[in-house]
Amino acid sequence: MPSRRIFIQRAGILAGVSVLPSFTKPLVAGRTSSLAEDTRNQLLVPVGKIYLNTGSLGPSPRAVVDAVTSAMHKLESDPASENWGKLGDQIDIVRQKVADFIHADLEEIILTRNTTEGLGLISQSLPLNAGDEIITTTLEHGGGEVGLEFLQKTKGAVLKKVALPLPPERATEIVSVIEKAITPKTRLVMVSHVNTVTGVLMPLAEISRLTSVRGIYLVADGAQAPGQVPVDVKALGVDAYACSGHKWLLCLIVKRPTTIKLTDRNNERQPTLRKIKRGVLPTHLPTQKHHI
Ligand SMILES: Cc1ncc(COP(=O)(O)O)c(C=O)c1O
Repeated sequence: MPSRRIFIQRAGILAGVSVLPSFTKPLVAGRTSSLAEDTRNQLLVPVGKIYLNTGSLGPSPRAVVDAVTSAMHKLESDPASENWGKLGDQIDIVRQKVADFIHADLEEIILTRNTTEGLGLISQSLPLNAGDEIITTTLEHGGGEVGLEFLQKTKGAVLKKVALPLPPERATEIVSVIEKAITPKTRLVMVSHVNTVTGVLMPLAEISRLTSVRGIYLVADGAQAPGQVPVDVKALGVDAYACSGHKWLLCLIVKRPTTIKLTDRNNERQPTLRKIKRGVLPTHLPTQKHHI
């Protein structure tokens, strides 16, 4: 069980990252009851039922459920106007909140329905060629692997799965396994931020020191991280990071992708602006190394 301090930290996160604009009331402890009780009372999971698994689908607090329902009512009452008007305009407010939470820039955020979709989108955008090598581990979730298998099948990339020490004694052991697997043909390293099988927090910043100097993309599957651990994508040094709102954050993210800015690392002063049609997932993203 998490300590009270950790629980409060998580509840604070929950309060700060309402992903829907109308969910503005933070959950704070009342005078007479504990923060834990107040938070528990926000969930629709019946009293007496203990819900332990928020790794797959976390229970959303009442305020989130109400905000989603109310947004749907608003949209359905005047679909086109709301879509292209007031409601649609709020997408950027949500993107900014997500950006602040994971220490990214607004232009770098695409809202997807889940991690699998995000990782698929990233894989589709990577300019890999036949024979290019991808390094991942034997303990990744299928949601991340599916994008890598797509690259294997469509581009002829070579997928190398490395076994990590179980349990690792030190971060350097993990870094060393990845380092040994790198060859001149390695173009992509994809690992989880928090591993879904072992709970190991991967040393992404250290791994990025290996990848960045070699021009290797570093992509992180962050499904299990936000809400459990602080996420600072800049400090982690990742090229792309996909995560979900519906797990540890207890929020639903059901918006559509919007505009993204793609910054060519070789030419940071001339970023390309690419518009993704609202409501439609792009089938292909850029061909240059970039931040997403
Ligand atoms: C590490 C990891 N990656 C990806 C996923 C898939 O997440 P989503 O349901 O948001 O696509 C999960 C689901 O639990 C996971 O644990």
